[in-house]
Amino acid sequence: MNILAIESSCDETAVAIVRDGRNVLTDCIASQVDLHRIYGGVVPEIASRMHIEAIYSLADQALEKARLSREGIDAVAVTYAPGLIGAVLVGVNFGKAAALAMEKPLIPVHHIRGHIAANYIAYPELKPPFLCLVVSGGHTMIVNVQDYTKMKILGTTLDDAAGECFDKVGRVLGMPYPGGAALDKASATGDDTKYSLPRSKPGENPYDMSFSGLKTATLNLIHHAEQIGEALDINSLCASFCGAVSDALVPRIRMAMEETGYRKLAVAGGVAANSRIRRDILTTAEELGAEVYLPPLSLCGDNAAMIGAQAYYEYLAGNVADMGLNAFATKSILGESI
Ligand code: KG4
Ligand code: ZN
Repeated sequence: MNILAIESSCDETAVAIVRDGRNVLTDCIASQVDLHRIYGGVVPEIASRMHIEAIYSLADQALEKARLSREGIDAVAVTYAPGLIGAVLVGVNFGKAAALAMEKPLIPVHHIRGHIAANYIAYPELKPPFLCLVVSGGHTMIVNVQDYTKMKILGTTLDDAAGECFDKVGRVLGMPYPGGAALDKASATGDDTKYSLPRSKPGENPYDMSFSGLKTATLNLIHHAEQIGEALDINSLCASFCGAVSDALVPRIRMAMEETGYRKLAVAGGVAANSRIRRDILTTAEELGAEVYLPPLSLCGDNAAMIGAQAYYEYLAGNVADMGLNAFATKSILGESI
């Protein structure tokens, strides 16, 4: 089954064609990052406009690269939530129009379910059940992936997402948007014990996380150093920060594996590209004798191939939409409105 998949929830317009959930025939991305960088973050109105400008030719390009005509497409899939509402709407409307014109089924896909499914592309042998650490720009959670479309959230951030925190600290350090990758790079030669940053234990649920205290403490440290004219060791601050984020994530993942008995762990989302987090996850998995699935860097960030992968399983589960499909800025990964 060839699925034409569309992703437009943030600042990447993407169209892919994926066969049977695992085989990527083509994956086209038009990134807007350079444009938003001027403003230090995503400008929603510009994002929507850029999606409109890019999406038609990107879809043509995807068909051309896959050497398929419209008749070769069996269904259309689209990210319908969560994301910047104007941006998601562009993809949803294009998806509806394409499905209607081609007389094919329309499959709505939750963006975060898509991030998890990026692992199905990278690892053809991976099948649920498994645990997944989702760490993106807008979401941070530990998910029990019981089946392709059946999930349970074990814990989630109670405030900021890990990626948001990376971007804010990166911005204050004068790094280009989005700050995560630059901060990661700078941390490579730093001493992660040089700056002491807080580790929080929020709420009653031991799997829940919090990043706003860490973000505030790091920003305060930077501003205080500026005020007293102290030169910071930026690389060591970045290394200490990456260590603190990893400490909020990895011990909780260990606890989840120990308590559930699961020995399969996947990681998903843009922050899954972080080298410290990847390293700590690999060490923990090795200690527990667990199999670990880390998506290649190309599949960590937003793309449409992951949407096409998840769409196949949504279709098999009967999750097909009609022309009344709407876009949502927020929606739980479990499917119900929040
Ligand atoms: O999953 P994603 O592409 O978009 C959302 O769905 O939110 O994640 C983007 C986030 C940004 O916050 C970016 O700074 C972060 O992923 N990121 C990283 C790295 N590469 C991207 N954070 C830490 N280390 C990295 N190497
Ligand atoms: Zn994403």
